[in-house]
Amino acid sequence: MDYLLENKRKSNFSKKILLAAALTALLVFVIKRPPVISPSTKFSEHEPGVTHVLVTGGAGYIGSHAVLRLLKDSYRVTIVDNLSRGNMGAVKILQELYPEPGRLQFIYADLGDAQAVNRVFSENAFDAVMHFAAVAYVGESTVEPLRYYHNITSNTLQIVKAMSAHGVKTLIYSSTCATYGEPEKMPITENTPQVPINPYGKAKKMAEDIIIDFSKTSDMAVMILRYFNVIGSDPLGRLGESPRPELREQGRISGACFDAARGIIPGLKVRGIDYKTADGTCVRDYIDVTDLIDAHVKALAHAKPSKVGIYNVGTGKGSSVREFVEACKKATGVDIKVEYLSRRAGDYAEVYSDPSKINIELNWTATYTNLQQSLTTAWKWQKAHLNGYET
Ligand SMILES: NC(=O)c1ccc[n+]([C@@H]2O[C@H](COP(=O)([O-])OP(=O)(O)OC[C@H]3O[C@@H](n4cnc5c(N)ncnc54)[C@H](O)[C@@H]3O)[C@@H](O)[C@H]2O)c1
Ligand SMILES: *[C@@H]1O[C@H](CO)[C@@H](O)[C@H](O)[C@H]1NC(C)=O
Ligand SMILES: *[C@@H]1O[C@H](CO)[C@@H](O)[C@H](O)[C@H]1NC(C)=O
Ligand SMILES: *[C@@H]1O[C@H](CO)[C@@H](O)[C@H](O)[C@H]1NC(C)=O
Ligand SMILES: *[C@@H]1O[C@H](CO)[C@@H](O)[C@H](O)[C@H]1NC(C)=O
Repeated sequence: MDYLLENKRKSNFSKKILLAAALTALLVFVIKRPPVISPSTKFSEHEPGVTHVLVTGGAGYIGSHAVLRLLKDSYRVTIVDNLSRGNMGAVKILQELYPEPGRLQFIYADLGDAQAVNRVFSENAFDAVMHFAAVAYVGESTVEPLRYYHNITSNTLQIVKAMSAHGVKTLIYSSTCATYGEPEKMPITENTPQVPINPYGKAKKMAEDIIIDFSKTSDMAVMILRYFNVIGSDPLGRLGESPRPELREQGRISGACFDAARGIIPGLKVRGIDYKTADGTCVRDYIDVTDLIDAHVKALAHAKPSKVGIYNVGTGKGSSVREFVEACKKATGVDIKVEYLSRRAGDYAEVYSDPSKINIELNWTATYTNLQQSLTTAWKWQKAHLNGYET
């Protein structure tokens, strides 16, 4: 009797286990099942009143800040990036801030892959493209020029061809003051002759030429923005600049200052103190990323079919390396060790913009013009993210 009862219990127990196992398996199946690629998502159809922007390089420093601003301003955004230099961590933060369907999607793709790019354009209905994706270190470009012509010039050609084939009519292009080379006269206006002196500047100039020549044969609306030296980060501390550790050597001055302040490198090496400038060090025009992105949004709003708008994006005011270092010391509170060395080949004494064209035509003005303030914002993010987006 007892034995029978025991047996019955056992069999009921194993039934329960079986049932639980079956339910668990079903749950795992539902969760793990790859999402059904629905032929019609919010991203695949134009929606009146919604501007869908493709942001190439949206996982990178400037691109991620652009995505944040576009989402805040109610744009629909698709990021295409192959994470060769950007950070998935930045994309995750953006996705957490804007989880609603139809706001932001991330597509992992390489712009050098024509088939992949065409697939992205045929499966999505873009109204405009902001093309940030590129490799962007002057020094590296002199060592690996083909990497630059490939990832800047050839990939831009790819984007323009795909836009043309799929009827996407607005392009905002990230260009650079490096396309001007070493102009004799300062400040640099948009009419200053472009004579780039390194593969980075040349690759960007060639990409501009491709875009401009194509626009003569189409009704595409084009805005080319030539940035000066970009610094700073999101004032609310959600995003920052986090280049790959292996690119530190190539790095820009702000990254080097912060690395020195953190003790990752022993100090700062300032190359050249005998330039014909007020304090002997090089003078550059530092533009805060928040202002830079504001210029993109204004450019998008002002873009006109069959027109190419070319604009310098800078503050119009130069700061010397010495001034920069002083601002960085104050922003970080660290008495960074500075070593003054002889000049580095290929550096020019003074570069700053004349931003009056963009002031007048797009009603854009730089507002984050306090170097120390911009560096303080960026330093806060750096200190809170010692491993970049990994933390
Ligand atoms: N940072 C500056 O001071 C500065 C100055 C002038 C111009 N720019 C331009 O601004 C743009 C953005 O620069 P950034 O400083 O944000 O650089 P970044 O390296 O942080 O971002 C570039 C992004 O493009 C992506 N990318 C590169 N090649 C790709 C490819 N083949 N396919 C898909 N994705 C690819 C990278 O993964 C990265 O996320 C660049 O076009 C650069 O030339 C930057
Ligand atoms: C086992 O389950 C059956 C129904 O499947 C039920 O009639 C019986 O009372 C259960 N026995 C025990 C010991 O729980
Ligand atoms: C990114 O794209 C380049 C080509 O531009 C390719 O060579 C590289 O392997 C890609 N990187 C990744 C991580 O996919
Ligand atoms: C750029 O192009 C070269 C090929 O010239 C490729 O090897 C490299 O991975 C590409 N991507 C990046 C991010 O440099
Ligand atoms: C220009 O920008 C300023 C500041 O953002 C704004 O107050 C002003 O109304 C704008 N002017 C025009 C003509 O749009």
